[in-house]
Amino acid sequence: MTSASLPAIDDVAVALGDRSYVVRVGRGLLGRAGAEIAPLLRRKRVTVVTEETVAALHLETLRAGLAAAGITLEALVLPPGEGTKSWPQLERTVEWLIARKVERGDIVVALGGGVIGDLVGFAAAILRRGVRFVQVPTSLLAQVDSSVGGKTGINSPQGKNLIGAFHQPSLVLADIDVLDTLPGRDFLAGYGEVVKYGLLGDARFFEWLEANGPRLAAGDRSLRQEAVRHAVRMKADIVERDETEQGDRALLNLGHTFGHALEAATGYSDRLLHGEGVAIGCLLAFDLSARLGLCSQEAPARVAAHLQAMGMKRSLADIPGDLPGRDGLIDLMAQDKKVRDGRLRFILARAIGDSFVTSDVPRAVLADLLDEALKGR
Ligand code: GLY
Repeated sequence: MTSASLPAIDDVAVALGDRSYVVRVGRGLLGRAGAEIAPLLRRKRVTVVTEETVAALHLETLRAGLAAAGITLEALVLPPGEGTKSWPQLERTVEWLIARKVERGDIVVALGGGVIGDLVGFAAAILRRGVRFVQVPTSLLAQVDSSVGGKTGINSPQGKNLIGAFHQPSLVLADIDVLDTLPGRDFLAGYGEVVKYGLLGDARFFEWLEANGPRLAAGDRSLRQEAVRHAVRMKADIVERDETEQGDRALLNLGHTFGHALEAATGYSDRLLHGEGVAIGCLLAFDLSARLGLCSQEAPARVAAHLQAMGMKRSLADIPGDLPGRDGLIDLMAQDKKVRDGRLRFILARAIGDSFVTSDVPRAVLADLLDEALKGR
């Protein structure tokens, strides 16, 4: 297909007053990045921060896309993987940007998945007390979640995402074509975040995913575009209501209390990808909701059936290697950023598409749930 016949780009506006921006979702965006970014620039150069795997696949397309609008780029290529969201790589990135004399009027481009988006966004937030940045998310997870909404940061040796800032991007370019290059496992991990949106607030979207998920995963680009657009619209609505997570934004953490604990328990290694932990965590959250009599037994059964139909990890039995016991897992949950006054907070559900935040989970019920989940291993 030539670029002239590519389908229309979907624009999702994130309305946050003077921090408003647009998330553009569609095909061929990398190749026309110059035209997209040029209106933001005072001088025709950008700095790009990316990682090795993504650079090999997409940096030249971005370079050509920028060159078409007369924009030059200098790139910093970091190592891939969660370990990059760390103090040493943050220091390296910030010092590199300072050495490139990046000014407040310039644009820093984050080209990569969630790790790069979070790290580069944070570097942009603290460089000269804030420079503008553009997110070019290359994973499904980053397109539907982490590139939108301005959460930026790095991990502490003591826990995930514990150091960071809210810093909204000036533009997000979610190019659907780049999803073609994702390994199947990474795509499905990102799909865990897509399912999360249906589960937390839109039963009809979940139904749509039940009907279209397998074709979407098999490569249908129009379905991918529709899923990304819909998820981003949902996220934008929530972020517009609650930019700094004083209330509703916590709903986006459905599945994350369990998921983060499981990621910590597996050492943030490739034993469990973030989106896999989220999918398993969503199902545990529905199981917990059913145990507490908040939702019907059918709800978790339906979530499990969809994850199974998609070939996704869905239980603790799907995580290779040892896991801590239930008390160890509960201790890991206590590091969650949602903990208030030492009490764990969960996103639970009254039904598919109807979630809420609560601290009201008796430890005994949680312990029983985890005992049973661990028994299945
Ligand atoms: N990923 C959750 C949020 O952006 O609030």
